[in-house]
Amino acid sequence: MKPAAAGVAFIAMATVPLSAPGTGPRAGAGAPLVIAHRGASRYAPENTLAAVDAAYDRGLTWVENDVQRTKDGQLVVLHDTTLERTTDVEKIFPGRAPWRVRDFTAAEISRLDAGSWFGPRFAGERVPTLADYLRRLDHNDQRLLLEIKSPKSYPGIEAGVVRELRRRGWLDRAHVRSRLVVQSFCVKCVKAVHGLVPQVRTGILGSPRLAELARYARFADEINPRMSALSSRWIKAVHRLRGPHGRPLEVYAWGVGKNTGVREARARGIEGVIT
Ligand code: G3P
Ligand code: CA
Repeated sequence: MKPAAAGVAFIAMATVPLSAPGTGPRAGAGAPLVIAHRGASRYAPENTLAAVDAAYDRGLTWVENDVQRTKDGQLVVLHDTTLERTTDVEKIFPGRAPWRVRDFTAAEISRLDAGSWFGPRFAGERVPTLADYLRRLDHNDQRLLLEIKSPKSYPGIEAGVVRELRRRGWLDRAHVRSRLVVQSFCVKCVKAVHGLVPQVRTGILGSPRLAELARYARFADEINPRMSALSSRWIKAVHRLRGPHGRPLEVYAWGVGKNTGVREARARGIEGVIT
């Protein structure tokens, strides 16, 4: 486990208030919040514990990840629905193409090296289970923007994610108030999460049409689009709506570098950037 690096903060976090009780990731006015996309994935292999720590070392409290399910029903943190880009699966299991996450057990996935592709210093880094990941965030006192990735490939994953969050203590009052948001590109999935745990903040990824926003505001607190898809009219329409917890919907954009992202987020008046 890495040592604490208190006081190391070179990004916006120094000026951004952490979540206040009862609020989302960003509380009140100030600089846009920076959320570490797949962890600090520029500095360490994405979606690994090393990327969580790299975010911590850079003063980033909020971390985004991607959650999927193995053949034997375990939740793991990985972006692609196949394993070959970010692990050595082709070497370890050569006959198992197309190496889909859902075709491998958790024990098999735990054998894979998820760090060497990024750099030799990360050799031996593993694909974390969601449980490992939550434990590390708790240890570092960090917060999680959890993306349920490709839920159509994993029927019922919403209930599994909720079960794991509960088992690991992430549905207690403190976590729910200011340490957790669950998001997905799949609107049905976000609605299902809200149905299971209405107290948890949720986000819809993408840029839904204006006509759809009012319906989505019944079960989503955030709408999180690609930065290039933003328009002033759309942002205003989102901000005018109140989400299921009675507060204006928030917008966290992605698909842009940190410095440009922070500048654009500030200029556009959105709450933050996932970068
Ligand atoms: O959180 C925004 C972002 O993660 C969505 O895109 O493909 O990186 O999961 P992707
Ligand atoms: Ca993601």
